[in-house]
Amino acid sequence: MLSSTCFLKFLTVVLFLPCLAWSLSSDDYEEEEGEEGEKTPPPELGFCDYDHCRHLQVPCKELQGLNGSACLCPGTSSPSQPPDPPRLGEVRIWPEEGRAAVHWCAPASPVDEYWLELWEGGDPGRTGPRVLFNNTVRRAELEGLKPGRTYILCVVASNDAGASPVPEGGGEDFDADGTPLFGPCRHLSVPLRLRTLGAAYRKEGH
Ligand SMILES: *[C@@H]1O[C@H](CO)[C@@H](O)[C@H](O)[C@H]1NC(C)=O
Ligand SMILES: *[C@@H]1O[C@H](CO)[C@@H](O)[C@H](O)[C@H]1NC(C)=O
Repeated sequence: MLSSTCFLKFLTVVLFLPCLAWSLSSDDYEEEEGEEGEKTPPPELGFCDYDHCRHLQVPCKELQGLNGSACLCPGTSSPSQPPDPPRLGEVRIWPEEGRAAVHWCAPASPVDEYWLELWEGGDPGRTGPRVLFNNTVRRAELEGLKPGRTYILCVVASNDAGASPVPEGGGEDFDADGTPLFGPCRHLSVPLRLRTLGAAYRKEGH
């Protein structure tokens, strides 16, 4: 009696297992087929013509709405959070003119506007009202830089929820290997050019 119960159990297991295995694998198969089926019929969505480093780049969400053309945008952080920090790219300095051209790349966040912060030593290097740039801008000019001085320059992005964080003291420009980190800030040294001192002093005067 006992032995026949055991045999039945054995039979159940032996017969059931292959059946289970078959049903699992056929489920997998059906799933794969389903995915492919979903992918093929509608035309492939391409990415929108959006470059987060391009000057005067319209926000991706607006590109999607331009002519009803469907395209994909990179994901962004939530609009209810302040933007992630932009990445400060190339900074070109013209020491003779006390001028610098600054380029940055947008964060993967909704941004309303940008501005630049400039410190000389511990002091704000900017006097007067903050210059705001709209969310398409990726390039700006700095003026009034003084030869032989060093500055900390940061780019800040803001939206309704607040402003992107600025690291204390501008953070690091390079990692331990000397690779540029492209954070939101840069330490700038304006070279001293004797030939241009006169012009620089005139600028400083006003
Ligand atoms: C829609 O706009 C995109 C980019 O603005 C352009 O590449 C595309 O050709 C436009 N499509 C139509 C149907 O106008
Ligand atoms: C954003 O600013 C740039 C540069 O000042 C300007 O050319 C552009 O028209 C502005 N765009 C919007 C949407 O205001």
